[in-house]
Amino acid sequence: MERTPHDPQTIGIFTGGGTAPGLNRVIFGATAVLQKEGHRVLGLPDGWAGVLEVPKDILELSALNRWELSSLLRGGGSALGSSRTKITPDKYPRVGATVDALGLDGLIAIGGDDTLGQAAELQRAGVIRAIGVPKTIDNDVHGTDKTFGFDTACQEAARFIDRMGVDAQTMRRAAVVEIMGRNAGHITLEAAVAGGAHITLIPEFPIQRERLLERVREVFAARRHVVIAIAEGYGHFQTEEEKQRRDTDPFGHKKQEGAAKSLARIIKKELGIDTQEQVAGYHVRSGAPLASDGNFAHQMGGMAGWLAHVRDYGKMVSLQKGEIVAAPLENVKGGRNVTELEYDPEEMMRRDVPPAIAARILEERRRVVEATALESAYLSQ
Ligand code: F6P
Repeated sequence: MERTPHDPQTIGIFTGGGTAPGLNRVIFGATAVLQKEGHRVLGLPDGWAGVLEVPKDILELSALNRWELSSLLRGGGSALGSSRTKITPDKYPRVGATVDALGLDGLIAIGGDDTLGQAAELQRAGVIRAIGVPKTIDNDVHGTDKTFGFDTACQEAARFIDRMGVDAQTMRRAAVVEIMGRNAGHITLEAAVAGGAHITLIPEFPIQRERLLERVREVFAARRHVVIAIAEGYGHFQTEEEKQRRDTDPFGHKKQEGAAKSLARIIKKELGIDTQEQVAGYHVRSGAPLASDGNFAHQMGGMAGWLAHVRDYGKMVSLQKGEIVAAPLENVKGGRNVTELEYDPEEMMRRDVPPAIAARILEERRRVVEATALESAYLSQ
Protein backbone atom coordinates (compact mmCIF):
# COMPACT_ATOMS: atom_id res chain seq x y z
CA MET A 1 0.00 0.00 0.00
CA GLU A 2 1.28 3.48 -0.91
CA ARG A 3 2.27 5.47 2.21
CA THR A 4 0.90 8.97 2.58
CA PRO A 5 3.28 11.79 3.53
CA HIS A 6 1.96 11.90 7.07
CA ASP A 7 2.11 8.19 7.95
CA PRO A 8 4.32 7.63 11.00
CA GLN A 9 7.96 7.21 10.07
CA THR A 10 11.16 6.23 11.84
CA ILE A 11 13.77 8.94 11.43
CA GLY A 12 17.43 8.61 12.41
CA ILE A 13 19.39 11.69 13.38
CA PHE A 14 23.13 12.09 13.88
CA THR A 15 25.91 14.67 14.07
CA GLY A 16 29.12 14.39 12.03
CA GLY A 17 32.42 16.29 11.93
CA GLY A 18 33.82 18.71 14.52
CA THR A 19 31.58 19.92 17.31
CA ALA A 20 29.84 23.29 17.08
CA PRO A 21 27.78 25.27 19.59
CA GLY A 22 24.10 24.58 18.89
CA LEU A 23 24.21 20.92 17.78
CA ASN A 24 21.97 19.84 20.65
CA ARG A 25 19.48 22.56 19.81
CA VAL A 26 19.16 21.21 16.25
CA ILE A 27 18.48 17.74 17.68
CA PHE A 28 15.95 19.27 20.07
CA GLY A 29 14.18 21.26 17.33
CA ALA A 30 13.92 18.31 14.94
CA THR A 31 12.76 15.91 17.66
CA ALA A 32 10.14 18.32 18.97
CA VAL A 33 8.50 18.63 15.52
CA LEU A 34 8.70 14.91 14.69
CA GLN A 35 7.49 13.85 18.13
CA LYS A 36 4.50 16.19 17.84
CA GLU A 37 3.61 14.70 14.47
CA GLY A 38 3.75 11.16 15.85
CA HIS A 39 7.05 9.89 14.38
CA ARG A 40 9.76 7.79 16.00
CA VAL A 41 13.14 9.52 16.30
CA LEU A 42 16.34 7.57 16.86
CA GLY A 43 19.52 9.38 17.88
CA LEU A 44 22.43 7.53 16.26
CA PRO A 45 25.86 7.83 17.90
CA ASP A 46 29.18 8.93 16.44
CA GLY A 47 28.42 10.43 13.04
CA TRP A 48 28.43 8.13 10.02
CA ALA A 49 29.95 5.39 12.21
CA GLY A 50 26.49 5.04 13.80
CA VAL A 51 24.97 4.22 10.40
CA LEU A 52 27.64 1.80 9.27
CA GLU A 53 26.32 -0.87 11.57
CA VAL A 54 23.43 -1.08 14.04
CA PRO A 55 24.80 0.84 17.04
CA LYS A 56 24.45 -0.44 20.59
CA ASP A 57 23.72 2.92 22.20
CA ILE A 58 20.84 4.37 20.21
CA LEU A 59 19.10 7.25 21.98
CA GLU A 60 15.32 6.83 21.60
CA LEU A 61 14.74 10.59 21.37
CA SER A 62 10.99 10.46 20.72
CA ALA A 63 10.49 8.46 23.92
CA LEU A 64 11.93 11.27 26.06
CA ASN A 65 9.53 13.56 27.84
CA ARG A 66 9.72 17.33 27.50
CA TRP A 67 11.72 17.67 30.72
CA GLU A 68 14.28 15.06 29.62
CA LEU A 69 14.55 16.58 26.17
CA SER A 70 15.04 20.06 27.53
CA SER A 71 18.51 19.10 28.76
CA LEU A 72 19.40 19.54 25.07
CA LEU A 73 18.44 23.21 25.22
CA ARG A 74 21.67 24.25 26.89
CA GLY A 75 25.28 23.24 26.82
CA GLY A 76 27.84 22.61 24.12
CA GLY A 77 28.91 19.52 22.21
CA SER A 78 26.56 16.86 20.87
CA ALA A 79 24.57 14.44 23.02
CA LEU A 80 25.04 11.93 20.19
CA GLY A 81 28.81 12.23 19.86
CA SER A 82 30.45 12.69 16.48
CA SER A 83 33.14 11.38 14.16
CA ARG A 84 34.72 12.04 10.79
CA THR A 85 33.93 8.54 9.49
CA LYS A 86 33.83 8.35 5.70
CA ILE A 87 31.62 5.86 3.89
CA THR A 88 33.27 4.64 0.72
CA PRO A 89 31.02 3.01 -1.95
CA ASP A 90 32.10 -0.50 -0.92
CA LYS A 91 30.41 0.18 2.45
CA TYR A 92 27.06 1.26 0.97
CA PRO A 93 25.54 -2.24 1.46
CA ARG A 94 26.39 -2.05 5.18
CA VAL A 95 24.58 1.30 5.44
CA GLY A 96 21.61 -0.20 3.55
CA ALA A 97 21.54 -3.12 6.00
CA THR A 98 21.47 -0.72 9.02
CA VAL A 99 18.67 1.30 7.43
CA ASP A 100 16.65 -1.91 6.95
CA ALA A 101 17.43 -3.32 10.39
CA LEU A 102 16.32 -0.09 12.12
CA GLY A 103 13.41 0.45 9.73
CA LEU A 104 14.63 3.97 8.94
CA ASP A 105 12.42 5.95 6.56
CA GLY A 106 14.82 8.85 6.56
CA LEU A 107 17.96 10.31 8.08
CA ILE A 108 18.68 13.81 9.33
CA ALA A 109 22.42 14.43 8.98
CA ILE A 110 23.84 17.42 10.84
CA GLY A 111 27.31 18.27 9.58
CA GLY A 112 29.62 20.24 7.34
CA ASP A 113 30.27 19.73 3.66
CA ASP A 114 31.95 16.36 4.22
CA THR A 115 29.07 14.89 6.24
CA LEU A 116 26.38 16.39 4.01
CA GLY A 117 28.29 15.66 0.78
CA GLN A 118 28.33 12.06 1.93
CA ALA A 119 24.56 12.22 2.59
CA ALA A 120 24.02 13.58 -0.93
CA GLU A 121 26.05 10.72 -2.44
CA LEU A 122 24.19 8.05 -0.47
CA GLN A 123 20.86 9.59 -1.43
CA ARG A 124 21.91 9.67 -5.09
CA ALA A 125 22.91 6.01 -4.87
CA GLY A 126 19.44 5.20 -3.48
CA VAL A 127 20.83 3.89 -0.17
CA ILE A 128 19.12 6.42 2.12
CA ARG A 129 16.66 9.31 2.08
CA ALA A 130 18.34 12.25 3.74
CA ILE A 131 17.88 15.78 4.98
CA GLY A 132 20.96 17.83 5.78
CA VAL A 133 21.46 20.54 8.35
CA PRO A 134 24.66 22.50 7.60
CA LYS A 135 26.95 22.89 10.57
CA THR A 136 30.40 24.32 11.17
CA ILE A 137 31.88 27.09 13.22
CA ASP A 138 33.95 27.93 10.12
CA ASN A 139 30.89 29.40 8.31
CA ASP A 140 32.32 28.15 5.03
CA VAL A 141 29.51 25.85 3.85
CA HIS A 142 28.36 26.52 0.33
CA GLY A 143 24.57 26.78 -0.07
CA THR A 144 23.69 28.66 3.11
CA ASP A 145 24.37 32.26 4.10
CA LYS A 146 25.41 31.25 7.60
CA THR A 147 25.93 28.27 9.89
CA PHE A 148 24.96 28.13 13.57
CA GLY A 149 27.86 28.14 16.01
CA PHE A 150 29.79 30.70 14.00
CA ASP A 151 28.77 33.67 16.16
CA THR A 152 29.62 31.81 19.35
CA ALA A 153 33.02 30.81 18.00
CA CYS A 154 33.68 34.44 17.00
CA GLN A 155 32.68 35.61 20.45
CA GLU A 156 35.07 33.16 22.14
CA ALA A 157 37.88 33.91 19.71
CA ALA A 158 37.40 37.66 20.17
CA ARG A 159 37.62 37.26 23.93
CA PHE A 160 40.80 35.23 23.49
CA ILE A 161 42.38 37.92 21.28
CA ASP A 162 41.33 40.65 23.66
CA ARG A 163 42.94 38.87 26.62
CA MET A 164 46.12 38.21 24.69
CA GLY A 165 46.09 41.92 23.87
CA VAL A 166 45.95 42.84 27.55
CA ASP A 167 48.88 40.54 28.24
CA ALA A 168 50.91 41.84 25.30
CA GLN A 169 50.24 45.46 26.22
CA THR A 170 51.21 44.94 29.84
CA MET A 171 54.26 42.82 29.08
CA ARG A 172 55.31 44.94 26.08
CA ARG A 173 55.44 42.17 23.54
CA ALA A 174 53.92 40.71 20.42
CA ALA A 175 51.00 38.29 20.66
CA VAL A 176 50.17 35.91 17.84
CA VAL A 177 46.77 34.24 18.22
CA GLU A 178 45.84 31.30 16.01
CA ILE A 179 42.17 30.76 15.31
CA MET A 180 40.26 27.85 13.79
CA GLY A 181 38.48 28.01 10.45
CA ARG A 182 40.26 25.45 8.30
CA ASN A 183 40.89 27.10 4.90
CA ALA A 184 38.55 30.05 5.46
CA GLY A 185 39.19 33.24 7.40
CA HIS A 186 35.63 34.11 8.45
CA ILE A 187 36.08 33.51 12.20
CA THR A 188 39.49 35.16 12.33
CA LEU A 189 38.28 38.24 10.50
CA GLU A 190 35.20 38.77 12.70
CA ALA A 191 37.04 37.99 15.91
CA ALA A 192 40.05 40.14 15.04
CA VAL A 193 37.84 43.18 14.55
CA ALA A 194 35.90 42.53 17.76
CA GLY A 195 38.96 41.54 19.79
CA GLY A 196 41.09 44.52 18.71
CA ALA A 197 43.88 42.81 16.77
CA HIS A 198 46.24 45.18 14.95
CA ILE A 199 46.95 42.78 12.10
CA THR A 200 44.71 40.09 10.64
CA LEU A 201 46.02 37.24 8.52
CA ILE A 202 43.65 34.97 6.64
CA PRO A 203 44.42 32.25 4.10
CA GLU A 204 42.42 33.90 1.31
CA PHE A 205 44.73 36.94 1.15
CA PRO A 206 48.36 36.18 2.00
CA ILE A 207 50.47 39.23 2.75
CA GLN A 208 53.99 39.55 1.49
CA ARG A 209 56.43 38.61 4.26
CA GLU A 210 58.53 41.80 4.17
CA ARG A 211 55.44 44.01 4.17
CA LEU A 212 54.05 42.14 7.14
CA LEU A 213 57.26 42.41 9.16
CA GLU A 214 57.46 46.12 8.36
CA ARG A 215 53.92 46.55 9.67
CA VAL A 216 54.66 44.55 12.83
CA ARG A 217 57.70 46.76 13.44
CA GLU A 218 55.64 49.93 12.90
CA VAL A 219 52.83 48.96 15.24
CA PHE A 220 55.24 47.75 17.91
CA ALA A 221 57.22 50.98 17.71
CA ALA A 222 54.07 53.08 18.03
CA ARG A 223 52.27 51.07 20.73
CA ARG A 224 54.96 48.97 22.43
CA HIS A 225 52.90 45.87 21.74
CA VAL A 226 51.25 44.28 18.75
CA VAL A 227 48.43 41.76 18.44
CA ILE A 228 48.22 39.55 15.39
CA ALA A 229 45.25 37.31 14.67
CA ILE A 230 46.21 34.51 12.32
CA ALA A 231 43.83 31.93 10.85
CA GLU A 232 45.00 28.34 11.34
CA GLY A 233 44.89 27.85 7.57
CA TYR A 234 47.50 30.57 6.99
CA GLY A 235 50.30 28.14 6.27
CA HIS A 236 52.49 30.58 4.33
CA PHE A 237 55.24 30.67 6.95
CA GLN A 238 55.46 26.92 7.35
CA THR A 239 58.09 24.82 5.67
CA GLU A 240 57.03 22.02 3.32
CA GLU A 241 58.33 19.56 5.87
CA GLU A 242 56.15 21.06 8.63
CA LYS A 243 53.11 20.90 6.35
CA GLN A 244 53.78 17.28 5.44
CA ARG A 245 54.07 16.27 9.08
CA ARG A 246 50.44 17.19 9.80
CA ASP A 247 47.86 14.38 10.14
CA THR A 248 45.26 13.82 7.44
CA ASP A 249 41.60 13.02 8.25
CA PRO A 250 39.50 10.40 6.38
CA PHE A 251 38.24 13.09 4.00
CA GLY A 252 41.79 14.01 3.04
CA HIS A 253 42.03 17.27 5.00
CA LYS A 254 45.36 18.06 6.59
CA LYS A 255 45.08 19.03 10.24
CA GLN A 256 45.66 22.76 10.47
CA GLU A 257 48.23 23.65 13.08
CA GLY A 258 51.42 25.56 13.59
CA ALA A 259 50.60 28.84 11.79
CA ALA A 260 51.08 31.00 14.90
CA LYS A 261 54.18 29.12 15.98
CA SER A 262 55.89 29.68 12.63
CA LEU A 263 55.04 33.36 12.52
CA ALA A 264 56.14 33.94 16.12
CA ARG A 265 59.46 32.29 15.32
CA ILE A 266 59.99 34.66 12.37
CA ILE A 267 59.07 37.78 14.36
CA LYS A 268 61.45 36.83 17.18
CA LYS A 269 64.28 36.00 14.81
CA GLU A 270 63.94 38.86 12.36
CA LEU A 271 62.68 41.69 14.55
CA GLY A 272 64.03 40.62 17.93
CA ILE A 273 60.66 41.30 19.56
CA ASP A 274 59.58 39.19 22.52
CA THR A 275 56.67 37.21 21.01
CA GLN A 276 54.14 34.81 22.49
CA GLU A 277 51.92 32.55 20.42
CA GLN A 278 48.68 31.01 21.67
CA VAL A 279 46.20 28.75 19.91
CA ALA A 280 42.54 29.50 20.65
CA GLY A 281 41.83 25.96 19.38
CA TYR A 282 38.95 23.75 20.52
CA HIS A 283 38.03 26.30 23.18
CA VAL A 284 36.14 28.38 20.60
CA ARG A 285 33.86 25.57 19.44
CA SER A 286 33.10 23.61 22.58
CA GLY A 287 30.98 25.92 24.73
CA ALA A 288 27.25 26.52 24.92
CA PRO A 289 25.79 28.57 22.06
CA LEU A 290 25.03 32.24 22.43
CA ALA A 291 21.27 32.81 22.64
CA SER A 292 21.17 33.89 18.98
CA ASP A 293 23.07 30.79 17.79
CA GLY A 294 20.96 28.50 19.97
CA ASN A 295 17.72 29.92 18.61
CA PHE A 296 19.05 29.78 15.04
CA ALA A 297 20.05 26.12 15.51
CA HIS A 298 16.65 25.33 17.05
CA GLN A 299 14.90 26.70 13.97
CA MET A 300 17.21 24.84 11.58
CA GLY A 301 16.39 21.62 13.45
CA GLY A 302 12.67 22.37 13.43
CA MET A 303 12.77 22.88 9.68
CA ALA A 304 14.65 19.59 9.21
CA GLY A 305 11.99 17.82 11.29
CA TRP A 306 9.28 19.38 9.19
CA LEU A 307 10.91 18.35 5.90
CA ALA A 308 11.17 14.77 7.18
CA HIS A 309 7.52 14.87 8.26
CA VAL A 310 6.36 15.86 4.76
CA ARG A 311 8.93 13.46 3.20
CA ASP A 312 10.68 16.22 1.34
CA TYR A 313 13.99 14.33 1.26
CA GLY A 314 17.10 15.22 -0.70
CA LYS A 315 17.06 18.72 0.81
CA MET A 316 19.26 20.70 3.09
CA VAL A 317 18.01 23.37 5.43
CA SER A 318 19.51 26.69 4.48
CA LEU A 319 19.51 30.31 5.60
CA GLN A 320 18.92 32.58 2.64
CA LYS A 321 18.51 36.33 3.04
CA GLY A 322 17.37 35.91 6.63
CA GLU A 323 14.86 33.16 5.89
CA ILE A 324 15.16 29.45 6.66
CA VAL A 325 14.33 27.50 3.50
CA ALA A 326 14.85 24.07 1.93
CA ALA A 327 17.54 23.88 -0.78
CA PRO A 328 18.80 20.90 -2.80
CA LEU A 329 21.17 18.77 -0.72
CA GLU A 330 23.59 18.77 -3.66
CA ASN A 331 24.16 22.52 -3.08
CA VAL A 332 26.43 21.74 -0.16
CA LYS A 333 29.38 20.93 -2.42
CA GLY A 334 32.28 23.39 -2.35
CA GLY A 335 33.39 25.92 0.23
CA ARG A 336 32.73 29.60 0.81
CA ASN A 337 35.58 32.02 1.46
CA VAL A 338 36.13 35.60 2.57
CA THR A 339 35.88 37.95 -0.40
CA GLU A 340 37.90 41.06 -1.21
CA LEU A 341 34.90 43.18 -0.27
CA GLU A 342 35.28 41.96 3.30
CA TYR A 343 39.07 42.16 3.62
CA ASP A 344 41.66 44.49 2.21
CA PRO A 345 45.13 43.04 2.78
CA GLU A 346 47.16 46.16 2.12
CA GLU A 347 45.29 48.55 4.33
CA MET A 348 44.85 46.04 7.15
CA MET A 349 42.67 48.65 8.80
CA ARG A 350 40.44 46.18 10.52
CA ARG A 351 40.87 47.67 13.92
CA ASP A 352 39.10 50.99 13.64
CA VAL A 353 36.91 50.79 10.58
CA PRO A 354 34.22 48.09 10.37
CA PRO A 355 34.78 45.88 7.28
CA ALA A 356 31.55 46.79 5.47
CA ILE A 357 32.30 50.50 5.85
CA ALA A 358 35.96 49.95 4.90
CA ALA A 359 34.75 48.36 1.65
CA ARG A 360 32.60 51.43 0.98
CA ILE A 361 35.50 53.77 1.72
CA LEU A 362 37.70 51.87 -0.74
CA GLU A 363 34.95 51.93 -3.35
CA GLU A 364 34.46 55.66 -2.86
CA ARG A 365 38.23 56.27 -3.12
CA ARG A 366 38.38 54.30 -6.36
CA ARG A 367 35.47 56.34 -7.70
CA VAL A 368 37.14 59.64 -6.79
CA VAL A 369 40.45 58.53 -8.34
CA GLU A 370 38.68 57.53 -11.56
CA ALA A 371 36.65 60.77 -11.66
CA THR A 372 39.81 62.86 -11.12
CA ALA A 373 41.60 60.98 -13.89
CA LEU A 374 38.66 61.58 -16.23
CA GLU A 375 38.53 65.25 -15.31
CA SER A 376 42.25 65.82 -15.91
CA ALA A 377 42.03 63.93 -19.19
CA TYR A 378 39.17 66.27 -20.21
CA LEU A 379 41.03 69.41 -19.11
CA SER A 380 44.22 68.45 -20.93
CA GLN A 381 42.38 68.06 -24.24
O1 F6P B 1 35.57 22.41 10.73
C1 F6P B 1 35.52 22.77 12.06
C2 F6P B 1 36.88 22.70 12.68
O2 F6P B 1 36.76 23.09 14.03
C3 F6P B 1 37.95 23.52 11.94
O3 F6P B 1 37.91 24.88 12.29
C4 F6P B 1 39.21 22.81 12.35
O4 F6P B 1 40.24 22.93 11.39
C5 F6P B 1 38.77 21.39 12.40
O5 F6P B 1 37.39 21.38 12.65
C6 F6P B 1 39.48 20.61 13.47
O6 F6P B 1 38.94 19.33 13.52
P1 F6P B 1 39.43 18.12 14.41
O7 F6P B 1 38.34 17.91 15.41
O8 F6P B 1 39.49 16.97 13.47
O9 F6P B 1 40.73 18.47 15.03
